[in-house]
Amino acid sequence: MGTMELWSMNVEKVRPHTIPNSQSEFIGRASIMGESSGTGFVAGLEDVVAAETRLSGVYGEAGELIIAGFPVEELARRASFEETAYLLWHDVLPDAGQLARFREELAGQRNLSRATLDLLRAVAAEKVPVMDALRMAAGTLSPGTDEEEALALVASLPTIVAAYSRMLDGGELVDPDPELGHAANYLYMLTGEAPGAELTRALETYLSTVSDHGMNASTFVARVIVSTRSDFVSAVVGAIGALKGPLHGGAPGPALDVVFQIGDASRAEAYLREKLGRGERLMGFGHRIYRVRDPRADVLAAAAERLYTTDGDTELYELALGVEQTALRLLAEHKPGRNLQTNVEFYTALLLHGLGLPTQLFTPTFAAGRVAGWTAHCSEQRALDRLIRPQSLYVGDKDRPWVPLEER
Ligand code: ACO
Repeated sequence: MGTMELWSMNVEKVRPHTIPNSQSEFIGRASIMGESSGTGFVAGLEDVVAAETRLSGVYGEAGELIIAGFPVEELARRASFEETAYLLWHDVLPDAGQLARFREELAGQRNLSRATLDLLRAVAAEKVPVMDALRMAAGTLSPGTDEEEALALVASLPTIVAAYSRMLDGGELVDPDPELGHAANYLYMLTGEAPGAELTRALETYLSTVSDHGMNASTFVARVIVSTRSDFVSAVVGAIGALKGPLHGGAPGPALDVVFQIGDASRAEAYLREKLGRGERLMGFGHRIYRVRDPRADVLAAAAERLYTTDGDTELYELALGVEQTALRLLAEHKPGRNLQTNVEFYTALLLHGLGLPTQLFTPTFAAGRVAGWTAHCSEQRALDRLIRPQSLYVGDKDRPWVPLEER
């Protein structure tokens, strides 16, 4: 059975409308909030359940993340990115033959069209930031069936990022190598050198770790767009826009900048206190759902430790750990009782830096992993086929007298 047939089979699987126990608890809390405010309005849609999904479950109080049935710790340690994407799309791990075919299908879609390359060259001349270039370039992908668009999006986001990065640096583009897996090929297109097993494993771990995460902001955007019966490319273009924001996927660059600006662990406390005193947020800490440490931070911390302690900048690694500890202590003072903890972005920054990626590629690389989840959610939403259209509460005037232009 080919990938495409499996795809439609699994679209069917998400149709039944059952609410797992853990989610009915959330629904209970959401309606209580609405009742207590008397309006049903919940700022930030906090605790509102906006979809049923078999893709991932985020358990904020326990600090657990399940991706398509697997604890993130297990999936991230073992899966290649292709296995994770296949699992999200088809709800089953591929056997050897299915995996080989899927790898081939993805590898066959990596090359960029003339239109995409022309756009990238034009925006590189203007030094447009990478996430903006990625958003625009993703929009140039050809319209097709949902399955075709999903495949093209997952396959070509890394090529777009790598090609654009090399254009900005004034280097020659490196063609994708169909013999390399998805993660190894990304590093190859960025550097021109095929990476070793250790770097490849670290990137596989990262991509699987961030592949899906419940109803996060960018996934919600993608689902809203598909709910209008629009296409997957449009949904992913919108999702990239949402991911870019500093409260969502835009945090790792600034998080690493802070570590570099501190420079020496002895300066961490004064620096971070000053930031908090100015009312700024510390990037890489806190989370809307997690009330304990983000489990993805642990997975990536372990991967970063492996990378840095075998052949890396151990000084930077130690400094980052020191900054993290100081930040956690100050955040506990700053917001007692809120338990602000390290989130995925802090160790994303450290890991991707250890892989040799420049800061401006952190969020685009996040997009290259999350696109597996976005497209899987698009497929679930397509199967549900229900327009997402909440209400707003009008709080403006109702009976303003019209004043003619000459009298205003
Ligand atoms: N630094 C300082 N203060 C913080 C931080 C932080 N990192 N996070 C939360 N707070 C403060 C808030 O300002 C708020 O204070 P207030 O009550 O005086 O307004 C209080 O703690 C409670 O915060 P919440 O409102 O519960 O947090 P919210 O759910 O709105 O925010 C968020 C979650 C956006 C992630 C926040 O923690 C944050 O801005 N963190 C920094 C940015 C970041 O790391 N983003 C990546 C998140 S992971 C991801 O999206 C992949």
